[in-house]
Amino acid sequence: MKKTILDFTEMKRKGEKITFLTCYDYPTACLCEKAGFDMLLVGDSVGMVVYGYRGTLPVTMEQMIVHSQAVRRGAPDTFIVGDMPFLSYQQSVKDAICNAGRFHKEAEVDAIKLEGGRRVIKQIEGIVDAGMSVMGHIGLTPQSSGQLGGFKAQGRTAESAMELISDALAIEKAGAFAILLEAVPPELGKIITERCRIPTLGIGAGIHVDGQILIVSDMLGMFEAFTPRFVKKYAALSEIIEKAFGDYIEEIRTGKFPQEKHCYRMLEGESEKLKTLLEKKHI
Ligand code: KIV
Repeated sequence: MKKTILDFTEMKRKGEKITFLTCYDYPTACLCEKAGFDMLLVGDSVGMVVYGYRGTLPVTMEQMIVHSQAVRRGAPDTFIVGDMPFLSYQQSVKDAICNAGRFHKEAEVDAIKLEGGRRVIKQIEGIVDAGMSVMGHIGLTPQSSGQLGGFKAQGRTAESAMELISDALAIEKAGAFAILLEAVPPELGKIITERCRIPTLGIGAGIHVDGQILIVSDMLGMFEAFTPRFVKKYAALSEIIEKAFGDYIEEIRTGKFPQEKHCYRMLEGESEKLKTLLEKKHI
């Protein structure tokens, strides 16, 4: 049965870890639902791992909606979070509510996620006031990685950790149901997790957070452009796919594929009839 935001709060209370993964397409969503993930994120990381952009900034609302719809079709009974892309919420509260609404109306997501702490509090409040569930995202926030000096771990000094703690508390106060912490030290993950009543989901935030998320292409070993320190590869799909492609090419070239079992034969007697027709028409 699909979990709700109340289940996630209860899981935190009981110390049960929340399982979370990014997902961008229908076949992977089917497998994720079968595996029993608690939540899926249609992340704007789709821009990097599916479209090959160098960052997440070019991703549009249209792309996010199409991918969210595919994931919803594949995982009808899983809690899905849609990721608000760059400039879909930063400019005004009205934009934020309209675009969060599009995710719900057009892709039937259960919640949306947006990046930033105190500077997006008005947007979080507006979306929550409009009746939608919001996940905050602080630490390394890829949409503002330019300001952060690149894809770098955050909160490594006491002062910057204090800023992130204040952001987390403000996000909770604004009505978010969860906070994603990206690339922060485990001790900071622990402090935020202990001080917030809402669940924390970590990616590179250590063991003490309430749940873990990874990028699906990273954990399956399918994205080779770069691998952040926090990634654990649970499979080496690139190697398997490369071998399959190589075998296919080889078998086409050597005539080993297709075999008889891969062919559709003409109906009984039709082959002879065709031969006669060809002869009659001198073709
Ligand atoms: O877009 C995304 O996939 C994310 C990850 C950092 C979880 O936000």
